[in-house]
Amino acid sequence: MRNLPAAIVVSSLIGVAHAATDGEYLFNAAGCLACHTSEDGPELAGGRAFETPYGTFYSPNISPDEQTGIGNWSKEQFIEALKHGTSPRGDPYFPVFPYPSYQLMTDEDAGAIYDYLMQREPQQRANREHDTAWWLGRWMMTPWQWWFEEEPPAAPDDAQLARGRYLVDALGHCGECHTSRDWAGVADRSYYLAGNPDGPDGEKVPNITPDRSNGIGKWDTDDLKWFLQSGELPDGDYTGGAMSEVIDNTTSKLTPDDRTAMAKFLKSLPALETP
Ligand code: HEC
Ligand code: HEC
Repeated sequence: MRNLPAAIVVSSLIGVAHAATDGEYLFNAAGCLACHTSEDGPELAGGRAFETPYGTFYSPNISPDEQTGIGNWSKEQFIEALKHGTSPRGDPYFPVFPYPSYQLMTDEDAGAIYDYLMQREPQQRANREHDTAWWLGRWMMTPWQWWFEEEPPAAPDDAQLARGRYLVDALGHCGECHTSRDWAGVADRSYYLAGNPDGPDGEKVPNITPDRSNGIGKWDTDDLKWFLQSGELPDGDYTGGAMSEVIDNTTSKLTPDDRTAMAKFLKSLPALETP
């Protein structure tokens, strides 16, 4: 065990699975690492490419290097970027950075991720410019942000379902891939998690609402829990593509209680058909 706050060591001794303020746990649950690490580069130094219909975007360096990373950022600036998509200079970010999901995160959890990042190894590596469509400007994201900042639906009353929803939406940003988008590129709430025929990298992303024909309606909670841990589907096959990365970097690293909460939350959703 390295750098674990005393409260967590004590709580693990008395059998409580985790404390919600563990920055590393939240960092994993939110899947920051894979997006901010390129195949040939050091951890958190950025440079991973994202091909979209709007051009190719490159993730920036989020290691605490002072020149090329975010080493000079205050916690407040970091929270503003992560939850509201606004840079320290006041510019809006493109939503390839899934801040529309992270806006649901508590400031405390976002701050814990900041503390964790600031303890990582600084990596010197300059950011690469995005290669976007000629007509797309960063300023256009300001009116775009008025759309996504609509009030999100209230969390479920049940504590376990509320935790599951927090893990699925605020941290796991599952809807960034599993929910289809409207004409403006905003996730369409009326098809929440109902699948996306046109997902990242042109991949078809399945329906994960409890629809019985093409969703997870025939899976029970244990099937889902095991899937989130191992990537194994009920028919014995293994998931591939973007999802295997989500399993490896994110859901397999959660506590069993958190995977249960996610599975129960998904099973509690209205069954929808893929658009
Ligand atoms: C799906 C990929 C993806 C995920 C997941 C992701 N990011 Fe990013 N992030 C990006 C991209 C791409 C940008 C650049 C956005 C832009 O330039 O408008 C970005 C921008 C940022 C920035 C702004 C950096 C700067 O120099 O201005 C920070 C900070 C950041 N991300 C932190 C995080 C953290 C912390 C997490 C996890 C909680 C995370 N990101 C998860 C892709 C991702
Ligand atoms: C980066 C995009 C992406 C993200 C983020 C993502 N998924 Fe997936 N997911 C996929 C893709 C693509 C598949 C289909 C993989 C395949 O064809 O093997 C998939 C498959 C699945 C399946 C299997 C469904 C079936 O019928 O086969 C489940 C369940 C699932 N995801 C749940 C989740 C949950 C829960 C989250 C959030 C923690 C999540 N996914 C986040 C892209 C994503």
